[in-house]
Amino acid sequence: SPASMNEKYRPQFHFTPKEKWMNDPNGLVYHNGIYHLFYQHYPEDIVWGPMHWGHATSMDLIHWKHQPIALYPDKHGLIFSGSAVVDKKNTAGFGKNGKTPLVAIFTYHSMEGEKAGRDDFQTQGIAYSLDDGQTWTKYKGNPVIGNPTGIRDFRDPKVFWHRASRQWIMILVAGDHAKFYSSPNLKDWTHLSDFGKDKGAHGGVWECPDLFKMKVQDSEEEKWVLLISINPGAPNGGSGTQYFVGDFDGITFTTDQKETKWIDRGMDNYAGITYNNAPYDRRVFIGWMSNWNYARDTPTKVWRSAMTMPRDLRLVKEQDVYFLKSQPIRELGSYIGETLFRTDIVVDSKKSFSKDFDDLNRTAISFDTNLSKDLKLTFSNKQGDSLVIGVDTEQQQLFLDRSASGIVNFEKSFAERPQVIPIDVSDKDVPFELYLDRSSIELFVEKGKYVLTAQVFPNVPYTNISISADKKAELSTFTVQPIRSSWDE
Ligand code: FRU
Repeated sequence: SPASMNEKYRPQFHFTPKEKWMNDPNGLVYHNGIYHLFYQHYPEDIVWGPMHWGHATSMDLIHWKHQPIALYPDKHGLIFSGSAVVDKKNTAGFGKNGKTPLVAIFTYHSMEGEKAGRDDFQTQGIAYSLDDGQTWTKYKGNPVIGNPTGIRDFRDPKVFWHRASRQWIMILVAGDHAKFYSSPNLKDWTHLSDFGKDKGAHGGVWECPDLFKMKVQDSEEEKWVLLISINPGAPNGGSGTQYFVGDFDGITFTTDQKETKWIDRGMDNYAGITYNNAPYDRRVFIGWMSNWNYARDTPTKVWRSAMTMPRDLRLVKEQDVYFLKSQPIRELGSYIGETLFRTDIVVDSKKSFSKDFDDLNRTAISFDTNLSKDLKLTFSNKQGDSLVIGVDTEQQQLFLDRSASGIVNFEKSFAERPQVIPIDVSDKDVPFELYLDRSSIELFVEKGKYVLTAQVFPNVPYTNISISADKKAELSTFTVQPIRSSWDE
């Protein structure tokens, strides 16, 4: 890998900025064969500061090319999170000489307004690009949505083309609820409805909404999925992303969902949104692989934080309950190398399993096992760091314990408690997939029904895997494969 993208904790098959601070993914849009990734970026420090939109492009969502900064702060404020659309019909009139405009819709955060004690310092603006995202021009009529009601948290617009009503729909968050708007031209917006004051989790402020239609797997039924990130209030602490499955008629979103659902139970998947215009009707999700509890304290120096593995979402219905499954995008397959190790494993109170490897820095590990048997899988190294993942049938949960995983003392909540996922203990074998990338681990169980994403900072790479159980447990086709660096090309 290029020396500059090869520091100790630098993820090799996840996106990171070349240098300095990054938070939320923004403006995810597919256009002309290219996946664009914009992101919250402060180019002058490795902590949060005046926000810009960084930019990167990819043809496969794994190998990224860094691009020049797309949006800089201006007289209306800093550039907070938002989305991007392809204005095929030139509804906003920015198109020239047959060039299709990309239009970014984002939040302006006025520092002056905030300092002056006003409550209307967050407004919405737009900008356009006629060269496939290389250069951007802000719209002269900004802001396109002011803030007459003085709601302090008023941000993160997600815009998409709503086929049924032939207009643009925007969803943004306003503190403890989401607001829906419509527009014929991306400039003039009409407020349609509100959702959520009395629905879902409210342990923190609502942020980074997304709304999209999905086919229920193996049926013709269609439902709408609403993503809402909240900070704090996630089930394992700090920031996390909940979702609602319901219906959207072009004006209002409704749901009879009672329980709160989370897209990922790990502490390190926040502010995630999905691609506009992705091909083959796929619904690709990317999250920011960190947590506001400790995002600014993690032990890296050149850059700070990564994106999650992009994931294909599927909507499933079982026993009349809808839920999302997320799986690493299939493109990851071409970065996975020849099998290093494969075997069937049986462990019990007398016999555990242990195997040394040269380096588990970049590996995919998979096996099938039964969710009704207690099990512990430990990654460790010669310096005594250990990261433990397991099944606890008494508590009916999967867990990840990073309390001894390496550097953990930069912030209290990072490793205070194991992170857990409630599971249906059942007597059938389910697939486990784990992806380790230097400073992160992503766990997908039962094809993405249970997902847990966590950062880890081992003092040196993990080199041993051991597996233990109190009663007999079997892991079939336990497989370890290397993953190639995506910065190599
Ligand atoms: C979410 C968030 C957004 C905001 C952005 C600012 O992490 O707080 O609500 O637009 O970060 O960087």
